[in-house]
Amino acid sequence: MTTPTGRRVTLVAAVAENGVIGSDADIPWKISEDFAHFKATTLGHVLVMGRTTHEGIGRPLPGRTTIVLTRDPEWTADGVRIAHSITEALDLADELLRDQPADRQVMIGGGAHVYAAAMPYADEQILSEIPLAPAGDTHYPEFSEKRWREVRREDRGKFAVVWWERVFACGAA
Ligand SMILES: NC(=O)c1ccc[n+]([C@@H]2O[C@H](COP(=O)([O-])OP(=O)(O)OC[C@H]3O[C@@H](n4cnc5c(N)ncnc54)[C@H](OP(=O)(O)O)[C@@H]3O)[C@@H](O)[C@H]2O)c1
Repeated sequence: MTTPTGRRVTLVAAVAENGVIGSDADIPWKISEDFAHFKATTLGHVLVMGRTTHEGIGRPLPGRTTIVLTRDPEWTADGVRIAHSITEALDLADELLRDQPADRQVMIGGGAHVYAAAMPYADEQILSEIPLAPAGDTHYPEFSEKRWREVRREDRGKFAVVWWERVFACGAA
């Protein structure tokens, strides 16, 4: 689907077997290799995340330009850009990437609300499959395997990374 000026949009998430991605505003596992994978995947790109996820992390992640989504017109935070809708975030990402190399893209870093809002605009999902089934209050949005195709899978030992590409663009995830 891409942004208005053609930058790729990629969802990056770690998802447990039961679909859980979060619990009490945190991620209910600590797998340093997956955090390293997230860092390597998002470094140098524009990273879009929800206010809850940003506040859970507590600081802007270095080496990335962070756009935080909030509907609160008063909300501010140091070191991040702010958008009030997903389309505003994608427009802002385009502006931030205007003079950047063509391979710089928009990475969607969660949480569930933001993955769901961005899914219709996404070209790709990079999902870490976490072989756990923890209790949690936040789940990755469901998506149709008719509209998304697994194109690559890598075993990373404690988890697997799976790349999904959109099969056809119909405006819905
Ligand atoms: N496993 C993973 O890969 C992963 C990755 C990221 C996060 N997480 C986990 O996910 C959980 C947080 O997810 P969440 O779904 O509760 O929260 P979230 O998506 O991080 O943030 C939700 C907030 O973002 C804003 N927002 C969301 N969609 C918006 C839209 N379309 N337009 C404008 N603003 C929008 C709203 O902020 P306002 O209320 O300020 O209006 C909303 O309350 C945490 O447990 C976190 O640790 C897991």
